Amino acid sequence: MTEERTVIAIDGPAGSGKSTVAKAVADRLGLEYLDTGAMYRSVAFAAMREGVDPEDTEVVANLSRGLALTVGPDGIVNVDGVDASIEIRGPEVTRAVSIVAANPGVRDEMRRRQREWVAKRNGGVMEGRDIGTVVFPDATLKVYLDASPEVRAARRSKEVTDLSYETVASDLARRDALDQGRTHDPLRAASDAVVIDTSDLTVAEIVDAILGQL
Ligand code: DC
Repeated sequence: MTEERTVIAIDGPAGSGKSTVAKAVADRLGLEYLDTGAMYRSVAFAAMREGVDPEDTEVVANLSRGLALTVGPDGIVNVDGVDASIEIRGPEVTRAVSIVAANPGVRDEMRRRQREWVAKRNGGVMEGRDIGTVVFPDATLKVYLDASPEVRAARRSKEVTDLSYETVASDLARRDALDQGRTHDPLRAASDAVVIDTSDLTVAEIVDAILGQL
């Protein structure tokens, strides 16, 4: 008999606390964790590395299909044999990634890989933008994390110490608009998601709130 699989979907905008919380939830449940944003970042990285225009929908979709891509739980990302862990977090990839993530061919391919990842492990904790709405609409638990734009920008600017708060805040607002306004799989909470405003909560409080739903 196969054990029943546990899939936890954690979605929300940048700076809502998804990564920290998803990792902690995975640890507590003994499940593996996947950062799906790193997958879209890796496609943007590969396009830039090969001199492909991120707006060239067909070429980028094709490139995504042929990509050898691994995203580890420790943040180590390998793209076609190159360690891209640091570069995928840099400003150039961050600028290009929303265009790549709006590409329906790329989304199809990433969704296929994300489902395969879960099937291989018989479950897991996955964070992203469309996990509860599109990738795993039948997830065991769907969580949507949010926080005020000011809190999210403050969190991000602590991580990216070489950019001013104003630059980080305006980049976040631009990405929010692109992620929420795109045609394919826009960022939104699933109708049956547990919505948590993390602005005034500690990580431990958020994790307890999520585990309390199981
Ligand atoms: O979470 P992040 O900032 O690393 O995500 C990078 C980009 O990828 C962001 O523009 C949203 C997009 N993304 C997406 O469209 N779907 C996902 N499941 C995860 C991320």
